[in-house]
Amino acid sequence: MDLVTTDITLAAQTLRNGGVVAIPTETVYGLGALATDDVAVARIFEIKGRPSDHPLIVHLSSRTQLADWSADVPEWAHTLADTYWPGPLTLVVPRSPLASDVVTGGLPTVGLRVPSHPIAQALLAVVGEGIAAPSANRYGHVSPTTSSHVVAELGPYLAPTDRILDGGASQVGVESTIVDCTGDLPHVLRPGAVTVEQIESTTGLEVVTGGTTRAPGTLPAHYAPQALVLVVDAPDLATAPRGNGLIAPAHIPTPDGLIRLAAPADTAAYARELYAALRRADDLTLTGVVVVPPGADGIGLAIRDRLRRAAYGSAQGR
Ligand code: TXA
Ligand code: MG
Repeated sequence: MDLVTTDITLAAQTLRNGGVVAIPTETVYGLGALATDDVAVARIFEIKGRPSDHPLIVHLSSRTQLADWSADVPEWAHTLADTYWPGPLTLVVPRSPLASDVVTGGLPTVGLRVPSHPIAQALLAVVGEGIAAPSANRYGHVSPTTSSHVVAELGPYLAPTDRILDGGASQVGVESTIVDCTGDLPHVLRPGAVTVEQIESTTGLEVVTGGTTRAPGTLPAHYAPQALVLVVDAPDLATAPRGNGLIAPAHIPTPDGLIRLAAPADTAAYARELYAALRRADDLTLTGVVVVPPGADGIGLAIRDRLRRAAYGSAQGR
C-alpha cells in the first residue's frame, strides 16, 4: 500500500493501531502518534533521530481539550487560546497526568496546539484524542512543508504500516509561535506567525523573549540544509560567492553567477517558500545558499530566527 495517502479514515486507523502518521498542518508537516501511546511516541524519536529529552507538542482538536491536558493555566493563556486557536500558536502549560514523560521529555509542562489545517482538524476530530507531533524532519534538518518533503526526509525510516497524509503545501511555512505560560508573563520561546505584538495586545501584558535552550528549535544550530547558509544584507550581494543559490525578496535582482531559488513577493510568501527553497539548494547539490532576509516585522522575525539557526552550523565550519 502507498505510504502517501489522502484517506483520513485510514490515517486514523494507523494511529489507533500504534503506527505513526505524518500530518499536514498550516505551519509545517508533523510526525504524529497517539499522545497516550508511549510506544508509538517513542518511535517518533527513533524515526527523527531526536534525543528523548526533547519534548513534543500535543495537537488537540479543539480548545475544550486544553483542560484535559493541563493544570493551572493562567487566565491570559486562556485568552490566547480563545484568540489564536485553531492556529499557529503553541502554549506551554503545566501538564495533567495525561501527558506522559515520553511526550514531555520528563518536563513538568506540556506544549499544546490546535492546528487550523482542515485535514489535521478532520484527523483530530476522527481520532478524538491528542496527537503528539514534532515537525516531520530528521533532527536538526529543515521542516517539511509538503508531503513529498516528508517522503524525502523520512521515507527510509518509516514502516510500511505508517502513513504520510497529503494536505498540499503548508500555508504559513514556518513553525508555530511557542509561548511559555508557566510564569507571570508570556514568554515567547520561538517566534512564529502569531507575533509578540499580537500577544502583547491580546493579553495586555509585557512579553518576555529569548533566554532558553530547552527547545531544540531554540538551539543555536537547527533548521539547516546540507548547503551552507550565508545570510547577507542586500548591498553585500555584489561580493557574495558565485555558484551559490540565492533566496531574496522579489524586488532584489539576481546578480550574475547566483542561482535564484526563491523570489517571494512579500514576507508571508517568504515564510511559505523558504523551506522548499532551502531543499531545492540540496536537490541541486549546491554548496551554499546566499540569503537576503526580509524585514523583522510580522512573521519576518520568525524567518530571521530560523535563518540565523540554519546559518549557525555554516559559520561553525560544518
Ligand atoms: O508548528 C509547529 O509547532 C510544528 C507543527 C507540526 O505543529 N511542530 C513543531 O514541533 O515544530 P517540533 O517538535 O519540531 O518543535 C516544537 C518545539 C520544540 O523545540 C520543543 O522542544 C518545544 O516545542 N516544546 C515542546 N514542548 C515543550 C515544553 N513543555 N517546554 C518547552 N518547550 C517545549
Ligand atoms: Mg522541529
